Amino acid sequence: MLRPTIYLDNASTSWPKPRRVIDEMVRFMDEDGGSPGRAGYRQSVTAERIVHDVRVKLARLIKADDPNRIIHCLNGTDALNIALKGSLREGDHVVCTQLDHNSVSRPLEALAARKIISLTRVPVAGDVCVDPDAIREAITPATRLVTTVHASNVTGIIQPVAEIGRIAREHDLLFLVDAAQTAGVVDIDVEAMHIDMLAFPCHKSLLGPSGTGALYVGKRADVHPWREGGTGADSIYPTQPEEFPTRLEAGTPNVVGLAGLNAALDGLTPNQTLEHERTLLERIIRGVEGCDKVRIIGDGPLSRRVGLLSLVIDGLAPVDTAAILDESFGIAVRAGLHCAPYAHRALETFPDGTIRVSPGWSTTEAEIDQLIAALGEIAA
Ligand SMILES: Cc1ncc(COP(=O)(O)O)c(C=O)c1O
Repeated sequence: MLRPTIYLDNASTSWPKPRRVIDEMVRFMDEDGGSPGRAGYRQSVTAERIVHDVRVKLARLIKADDPNRIIHCLNGTDALNIALKGSLREGDHVVCTQLDHNSVSRPLEALAARKIISLTRVPVAGDVCVDPDAIREAITPATRLVTTVHASNVTGIIQPVAEIGRIAREHDLLFLVDAAQTAGVVDIDVEAMHIDMLAFPCHKSLLGPSGTGALYVGKRADVHPWREGGTGADSIYPTQPEEFPTRLEAGTPNVVGLAGLNAALDGLTPNQTLEHERTLLERIIRGVEGCDKVRIIGDGPLSRRVGLLSLVIDGLAPVDTAAILDESFGIAVRAGLHCAPYAHRALETFPDGTIRVSPGWSTTEAEIDQLIAALGEIAA
């Protein structure tokens, strides 16, 4: 018998998924199950319609005018790798930040280690926020790309993306945004924010299943494919077709996952979900206020937060706190560096990291009260 869990790790992946997501995935496998765009029979056509419907819905969500510029990916990491490795050229300089997730940092560090690019990592200010002026100062004549996370996956603080985008555009640079923690809860307008490439997983706040993610590629970005192969169309060409989305989408996509995502997007309520999650965060912040040993890491008002926060219990390693929460209280949280080691250097929580608590759309106040009580007990 499975032990009931209070799941507070929605920043890693959302759980549970809404029933409609699971039902649609099962229905697709039972009734459709075809390979999209590969043939003219019903199952293939239906699969292609689902794949396209998701593109249309994602484009609408981020206010992109061409759905064909939405590339279906495996996850956020896949989308970021396609963007970085496909757009950077030898000799390019890149401006990134101390808040980057390893899915941005590692590809960039690897390209820098091979002397293909040079890299400036802009430190964050005391409020754990990227300073747009610091980005401007880091730009050199060789700079080709600026990248930032939209909201830190360690602190939950939303970054001044529109301002950074404006600076990147003034310098005629490409602007890549990692929207892993914002897509599905925070408004994104790729045009108004001057975003040339937007990478996001679809298994977090977009409530799709794992194995789903997307990359928006604007018209200013020239992204070369690293994966080449069958697309179901234009088979006569000896090389990958130039047209989007097939240019960056070789191979059979995760149609079962996309069927689930299609259903997820139909019932999405970004504003209400963000409001709900902020209310729960406020409850946690108030609930641990009286406990000196419990410290919230990363400053910022609720109005600038997505639904996650980091904390530590003084004198106890985060990994041990998480293990006790799991084993003694049935509460699932994440501990450690959360794949963002540079951010922890800024927060002075390196190398042990923090406990990250991230409620989701279905988390209740009663569950949060159990977390607060458990933290109090552990600290005592
Ligand atoms: C800020 C940030 N970027 C990128 C990723 C990578 O996303 P995925 O796990 O879907 O590859 C994550 C996931 O935790 C994240 O939080």
